[in-house]
Amino acid sequence: MEQILLMNEQVPTAVPSTDAPAAPALKPKKVSESATTMTQMVMPNDTNPMGNLMGGNLLCWMDIACAICAGKHCETHVVTASVDHVSFQKPIRVGEVVTLEAHVTRAFNTSVEVIVEVFACDIKGHNVRRCNSAFFTFVALDGHNGSPVPVPPVLPLTEIEQQRYESAPRRRELRLLLGGRIKPEDALEIRHLFT
Ligand SMILES: CC(C)(COP(=O)(O)OP(=O)(O)OC[C@H]1O[C@@H](n2cnc3c(N)ncnc32)[C@H](O)[C@@H]1OP(=O)(O)O)[C@@H](O)C(=O)NCCC(=O)NCCS
Repeated sequence: MEQILLMNEQVPTAVPSTDAPAAPALKPKKVSESATTMTQMVMPNDTNPMGNLMGGNLLCWMDIACAICAGKHCETHVVTASVDHVSFQKPIRVGEVVTLEAHVTRAFNTSVEVIVEVFACDIKGHNVRRCNSAFFTFVALDGHNGSPVPVPPVLPLTEIEQQRYESAPRRRELRLLLGGRIKPEDALEIRHLFT
């Protein structure tokens, strides 16, 4: 379980009881404030018998890059709640350089969606290619009692940030549906796709 604790951790206050005053709304944060880039070189120990980066190792790096991004956005501990479909489209060879770029797309109540894009190139920086991408969902947890806590909204500024922000509720519904957390009749954003 990935528990990310930032050095400058600011743990949001606990959700108040019903007779306490409502907590102030969290200030929206720009996508760029938590953008995270991670670079790795594929070493022999990271590979499968074909000499390519093993999928499980790439997933681990993706999870770490996304968790750092989500932790920076939420400013508290985060845990991975789900990983959407991942396909490994292009092999990455031993000795190549892998760059993972993670950005928050949208925050909900206590969860945040992060997209990670994976690029590979040779040691000279040539043969750059986009190998895959995936959406990860993290839940922010109170550092003391481990219960989910509210997360700051995302402020999308660029066109791609806007696109990812607007499509995020549909992806969220689909993953909650597939995860058995909502019923098909409650999937209001995507129900029309199946009828
Ligand atoms: C993620 C976790 C904290 C959610 O706990 P919970 O008691 O179900 O909490 P809630 O029902 O209050 O849901 C909290 C948030 O998680 C989201 N969530 C829960 N399961 C989810 C899933 N499978 N996919 C996406 N989001 C999920 C909910 O939608 C909710 O988000 P919102 O507040 O933004 O609407 C809990 O399931 C957990 O600890 N899982 C293990 C995490 C872990 O160890 N990860 C590493 C891999 S082992």
